[in-house]
Amino acid sequence: MSHLIAPSILSADFGNLQRDCEMINKSEADWFHVDIMDGVFVPNISFGLPVVKAIRRHAKKPLDVHLMIVDPDRYIGAFKEAGADILTVHIEACVHLHRTIQSIHAAGMQAGVALNPHTSVSLLADIIGDIDLVCLMSVNPGFGGQKFIENTYHKIYQTHELIVSRKSNAKIEIDGGVDLINYKQLLNSGADVLVAGNTVFSSAEPLHTIKELKN
Ligand code: DX5
Ligand code: ZN
Repeated sequence: MSHLIAPSILSADFGNLQRDCEMINKSEADWFHVDIMDGVFVPNISFGLPVVKAIRRHAKKPLDVHLMIVDPDRYIGAFKEAGADILTVHIEACVHLHRTIQSIHAAGMQAGVALNPHTSVSLLADIIGDIDLVCLMSVNPGFGGQKFIENTYHKIYQTHELIVSRKSNAKIEIDGGVDLINYKQLLNSGADVLVAGNTVFSSAEPLHTIKELKN
């Protein structure tokens, strides 16, 4: 499988959301990465369900929704209804992670699990066979445009080994600080999906930047 690119809407121009969605439609990007922050799990508030619905109306590619919220179980149905295709929850926010993953699948979405930079990959050992995506946070979640944490490479290798040993089909997604310098090493280390916010939206030529990340 060739790798996937998921531009992060968090760095889009919210006054021109339709325009930015159409840019992603036109580009070689594969998914829309949609960051939901509640101001409790992370020290920032992004946007909520009405905005996800608006993105869904314009987006012609899957919505990869990343929930940085406490008690995500309460909102699984609502995000399905808003148009999410992949729903990722944080391991640090889920007491009954297996049940949460079952609920996401029962709602008809793919299920992802995100790990904060300090969270050990070994915690995935007994859930890796049940999930579709591992999202390795390569910054502390909450804001776009932060500096990439180098220990992520090591976590990619560990996740890859776990996936192979458990015969899992999960994809490895890298979220935070992905740029035109580190993306090749991330792919060589085993990443399948690259999220890019600042790198795409601060570019003078976002279509070209996405093309570069993709090829
Ligand atoms: C961070 C978010 C990321 C963010 C990445 O909390 O989960 O998806 O948008 O942004 P960049 O690519 O700018 O680091
Ligand atoms: Zn994200």
